[in-house]
Amino acid sequence: MLPRKTFAIISHPDAGKTTLTERLLFNSGTINVVGNIKSKKSDKFATSDWMKIEQERGISITSAAMQFEFNSHVINLLDTPGHQDFSEDTYRTLTAVDSALMVIDFAKGVEERTIKLLEVCRLRDTPIITFINKLDRFGKDFIELIDEIEEVLQIKCVPMNLPIGRGKDFLGIYDIKNQNAIIYKGNETQIIELKKLKSLIDDQIYLELEQDIEVVENLCDSFQIDSFLMGKITPLFFGSAIKNIGIRELLDGFIKYAPEPLPKNTNISKIDPSDPFFSGFVFKIQANMDPAHRDRIAFLRICSGNYKPGINIYQTRTKKKLKINNALTFMASDRHSLDEAYAGDIIGIHNHGTINIGDSFTQGEDINFIGIPNFAPEMFKRVVLKDPLKSKALKMGLKQLCEEGATQMLQIYNSNDILLGAVGSLQFDVVLYRLKNEYNVNCILEGSNFQVARWLRFNSEQMQKQFISKLDTQIAIDHQNDLVFLASSRINLSLTEERWPEVIFSKTREINY
Ligand code: G4P
Repeated sequence: MLPRKTFAIISHPDAGKTTLTERLLFNSGTINVVGNIKSKKSDKFATSDWMKIEQERGISITSAAMQFEFNSHVINLLDTPGHQDFSEDTYRTLTAVDSALMVIDFAKGVEERTIKLLEVCRLRDTPIITFINKLDRFGKDFIELIDEIEEVLQIKCVPMNLPIGRGKDFLGIYDIKNQNAIIYKGNETQIIELKKLKSLIDDQIYLELEQDIEVVENLCDSFQIDSFLMGKITPLFFGSAIKNIGIRELLDGFIKYAPEPLPKNTNISKIDPSDPFFSGFVFKIQANMDPAHRDRIAFLRICSGNYKPGINIYQTRTKKKLKINNALTFMASDRHSLDEAYAGDIIGIHNHGTINIGDSFTQGEDINFIGIPNFAPEMFKRVVLKDPLKSKALKMGLKQLCEEGATQMLQIYNSNDILLGAVGSLQFDVVLYRLKNEYNVNCILEGSNFQVARWLRFNSEQMQKQFISKLDTQIAIDHQNDLVFLASSRINLSLTEERWPEVIFSKTREINY
């Protein structure tokens, strides 16, 4: 079995995640041609963009898993949606990785979405490798950039290499440890010792490099693997995804430093990847990956043991056994059946509505992987059906979309009103689009007075009854039959919390646990 590395790329939109993904695949020999890069201006689309709506809008909405080999390693790359409106999806994807590759635009530095994504990584101390992209343009001053990353993201930077030149004079990469320059000429590279470099390049570029080397020697800590694994320091790699400069060095660094599968938390104890029994959890459900198949795939991260076709696994939520014959692996838009898969791998399981996000699978042990939450929606819309006869199809469609985590359906207590809850408004667009295209249901969404939602927990049935009888117009039932309190404002929520001190109002809910 080859060692596994499972990671995701995180970045602010436009920093170059798609271009870099394609370059990683190219440099690992997985694809032979580049140039399918998503373009907002043309109808070309990225290998990782599956949904039509994404292509139309030029944003990456769905997240996917791709597997490829590099240097005797199997790499699982999980795609996270770039758009903030799909942050819940991104959050859950990040539960399934062991490290993250943060892409920063050299000119723009640390951007808002990167800050948020790093906060999520920090919740689990995920190790972060940083790629500073777009060195073929002029950007920030080197020290300023490091200061910015360290201050804003609260993580210490340890440059592993340095850029030689910037903008149109970006010539290559200087490897700090080996004291070698790697000069790029098209796809060819030439390795040159630092002392010999001086006579070969422009004085100004050499001087700048010398200054950068001095800064690193004097100001930056040395690379300590333990601090990296604790998420306290990040190794920096420089390059240009579009020019294919520094990508090979990044991949080599990634293989060297990114951790192999790490233990995962359950409600009982940590599961170690070397544990012999199969275990894993579902972090994503995706529909219509291939319109020809019209199916839904549950993405499962294997946490221990291995998969072989015909394996019997146990779904701890439903306590049912499931025989899996044809788990899938993915390479961009291609998919094929797997002969085997190991801890760290992501497998796709055909799902006919029986698997939910957050489900744990074992070989009989009653354990649940934890830390895969739903977040309370922050935006609400009332669903108005254009054709009232379609109400059954609407409910079915919404149920399935909820299972995928695309939205949250809230049925108002004692009423036929259905609200949709979302964390970002684009989620509503996706739901409307998919209801129409996949379920043939036309509806419109109207504004709602509610602004805040909290899941409810009661100490006693009596308390639950009392609460519901007093506040039934503000209570809804979600698609998993949990009770939700809806408030018109944060003040209204605080007042209710004060009045009902024994009731627990919760902002997140562990899925299926
Ligand atoms: P994203 O997935 O993070 O949103 O970023 P994406 O790869 O789509 O890149 C965003 C833009 O940045 C694209 O340009 C892409 O070509 C450009 N880009 C990516 N890497 C580099 C780089 O190393 N140097 C330079 N100079 N540009 C880079 P676009 O104009 O938005 O799209 P397109 O018309 O070029 O496809």
